[in-house]
Amino acid sequence: MHMLHQKIILLTGGAAGIGWACAQAYAANGATVCIADKQAISPAQMAVLGSGHLYLPCDVSKETAVKEAIAQVINTYGRLDAIHNNAGITHPSKPLHDTTDEEWDLLFQVNLKSILYTVRHGIQHLTKTKGCILNTSSMVGDIGQDNHAAYVATKGGVNALTKAMALDYAPLGIRVNAISPAAVKTEALDAWSKAQPGHAAIQQYLDHLHPLGKMPEGDVIADTAVFLLSHAARFITGCIMPVSGGAELGYRTIL
Ligand SMILES: NC(=O)c1ccc[n+]([C@@H]2O[C@H](COP(=O)([O-])OP(=O)(O)OC[C@H]3O[C@@H](n4cnc5c(N)ncnc54)[C@H](O)[C@@H]3O)[C@@H](O)[C@H]2O)c1
Repeated sequence: MHMLHQKIILLTGGAAGIGWACAQAYAANGATVCIADKQAISPAQMAVLGSGHLYLPCDVSKETAVKEAIAQVINTYGRLDAIHNNAGITHPSKPLHDTTDEEWDLLFQVNLKSILYTVRHGIQHLTKTKGCILNTSSMVGDIGQDNHAAYVATKGGVNALTKAMALDYAPLGIRVNAISPAAVKTEALDAWSKAQPGHAAIQQYLDHLHPLGKMPEGDVIADTAVFLLSHAARFITGCIMPVSGGAELGYRTIL
């Protein structure tokens, strides 16, 4: 039997990048995927997942939109087995003193407060199914990153929140975990890197960052996400799982 047989999964930010890789892996593993994304998904793209999956236009920084998306999942399928909070933004690239109130607030609203919204409106449904929650964090929430202070703070918040939620919801039989990637090759990251003056050096740096090899694509994150949402991870909660090829392990010589 598939690892996610008949699971109904709400996945935020599933239209592109890591989220899209997760959507494909969830569908391939027998789940029904409900993608909540502010970016439109064409019927042709949804068809890649097979039939019976759902696209929900949704800006996760808006509580009413999240509430409506979850209501639509319940109206359509009658249950919810997992929430994967994946939607996130990284910009602006700047140190803290240059970060405006608007930039700070948007980063926190999309990357962190959206989790409050999905949980506030989803927990009653996860309680019925003894479901689980997965958050896409980042290695920089643990070890920092230059020029991205507000982004880093949101991911530190995601890590702390993951542990606190794991404790609060364990008595309900609901597991809460996070995945912590280093760099993952996505169209958005490619576009950003190509726009930088030192593009070739940036690519080399991103590849070198991972001792296990080059910068991966979203499939490595998706495979771990399938595991963490599955019965195989039934005794794992509060875990911030690095999927980083060892990027955070220590100083290395660059040859
Ligand atoms: N790519 C990386 O190197 C990397 C590394 C570590 C962590 N992450 C994290 O992985 C997650 C996914 O990032 P990605 O690299 O795939 O990014 P991406 O830009 O390729 O995709 C992000 C998706 O989220 C959606 N989204 C953005 N804001 C939204 C909003 N307000 N409401 C609904 N949907 C919204 C976008 O439309 C898009 O589909 C993010 O949380 C990011 O912080 C990425």
